[in-house]
Amino acid sequence: MRISDPQIANRLAELDVELQRGTALADLTSLGFGGTTDLLRLRKHETIPDLLRLLDSKHIPHKFLGGGSNLLVGDGELPWVVLRLVRPEPDIVLEGNYAHVDAAADLGRTVTFCAKHDLGGMEGLIGVPGTVGGALRMNAGAYGMQIGSYVREVKLYRAAARKIEILRGHQISFEYRHTSFAPDDMMLAVTLELPSKPYKEILQGIRICNEKRRSSQPLGQKSAGCIFKNPPGGSAGRMIDELGLKGLSVGDARVSDRHANFFVNAGHASAKDMLALIADVRERVRKAYGVTLENEVVVWNA
Ligand code: EPU
Repeated sequence: MRISDPQIANRLAELDVELQRGTALADLTSLGFGGTTDLLRLRKHETIPDLLRLLDSKHIPHKFLGGGSNLLVGDGELPWVVLRLVRPEPDIVLEGNYAHVDAAADLGRTVTFCAKHDLGGMEGLIGVPGTVGGALRMNAGAYGMQIGSYVREVKLYRAAARKIEILRGHQISFEYRHTSFAPDDMMLAVTLELPSKPYKEILQGIRICNEKRRSSQPLGQKSAGCIFKNPPGGSAGRMIDELGLKGLSVGDARVSDRHANFFVNAGHASAKDMLALIADVRERVRKAYGVTLENEVVVWNA
């Protein structure tokens, strides 16, 4: 969707929002495909309520983009604009065992920055690509830990109240790859409380997790991580593997040979290819196991 009205463009500039016209989301997502739209880069949290009032009043639909690493975006001209926070400097401020982190901060860098200051707990998240805001919204987790366990406070734009609010950790529920945030809430910043641990010990944990990940996941390839959530008590990757579906393709969308719950863009895959592959695998698993796998990847299909 394109913002062509010069009055809106002027107002965006007043709100310290940078309008980046005709942005290819293929360049902003780890799957490496996705259509085109106008991107609004937000430099100030404080102007977000006014920005959203403006978009609503002009009937401009929007979506919030984080790191784009768990996202499948539709092809072609997209019918909404995309909002994205500009990462401030500094994006992490430490205060004792608390880390105040901007939602636009890189998750991996946050883990290592805290580690260097003897704050641990998040070793399992080291290889998870994306922003802290995205990890928070999805309650990212790996190797027995999840980010929600460390959340003490969240600053967010609450779409329902149309204002910026602060929530305490106990007001938010964090479940397996799910949180109680509303779909149109926008994560702005988080305070994590992390256990003190010597850097060397954290580094050892980080190395172990990195090694496990390298040996079981297709890290060098374009993917969005796991496509499906694990069903209760089961493993989507194992089920797909057991059905012999590694290597199954639709166009250049392909079930990874390394981890069957990772679907990779092996060349010039489109969203259409990837969605067809997901539907095909879901149906085969349903027929064989009687289980309907739920998407773990977030889909923005036009
Ligand atoms: N397995 C196979 N074949 C495969 C893949 C896995 O047999 O192709 C088996 C493994 O041998 C293992 C079991 O399935 O016995 C589970 O596999 P794995 O340890 O790789 O974990 P997972 O359940 O597939 C989850 C998360 C990952 C996270 C890892 C490590 C989900 C959907 N996936 O994967 O998260 O990195 O554990 O903790 O919860 C993601 O969220 O995008 C993601 C990749």
